[in-house]
Amino acid sequence: MKYPYSDAVMEHFRHPRNVGKMDDADGKAIEGSPACGDMVAVYVKVDPESQKITDAKFESYGCASNIATGSMITELAKGKTLEEAKNITWTQAAEALGGLPKIKAHCSVLAVEGLRSAIENYEERHGLVTEKTPTTIEVIRRRLRKVMNPLTGLDIIRTEMIKDITINEGAISLTVDLPANHQFAVAIKEEIMEKLETLWDVKKVEINFTE
Ligand code: FES
Repeated sequence: MKYPYSDAVMEHFRHPRNVGKMDDADGKAIEGSPACGDMVAVYVKVDPESQKITDAKFESYGCASNIATGSMITELAKGKTLEEAKNITWTQAAEALGGLPKIKAHCSVLAVEGLRSAIENYEERHGLVTEKTPTTIEVIRRRLRKVMNPLTGLDIIRTEMIKDITINEGAISLTVDLPANHQFAVAIKEEIMEKLETLWDVKKVEINFTE
């Protein structure tokens, strides 16, 4: 069978490197693609002295191109400084894979964004964020666009699952349009917390449910 993919894509898809969860990750992120609704999780381990990535792993809930790019970017990231790794572009990742069909560009964007967000998560957790813009409702909404609504496969902002966002002296409060005992309530709450509590000027996050 002839695939529309390069040999390198097929090789990384069939034998992806660095797959799996990293329980002791120093930085982690889950990214969702607005184009297709797929998701990728990226984990990094960082040496605090040299600021180099010593290990990187990923889990993909996406297509072959996403798996291949996840495999490639985690390989590329290892041994790089945080700054160097943040500068890896999706075109570089796609080139390293011998190219991707145009229609699949967003799949490598998703993997590369996952790596960047995992690095940002490390920086936020370690007080390394230099650009300290104040958290606004728009910042909160932008972050929550990366949390998926598992009922639809789209994000929780687009599906209007989040109501009544307020921010007052570092305390964020919001309501999730789900009953508190819903099977996804705990997971969604955890993901929202993860996205918001690392913001440099946020002291408290309160999440309410509709019932
Ligand atoms: Fe969704 Fe490739 S089609 S990640």
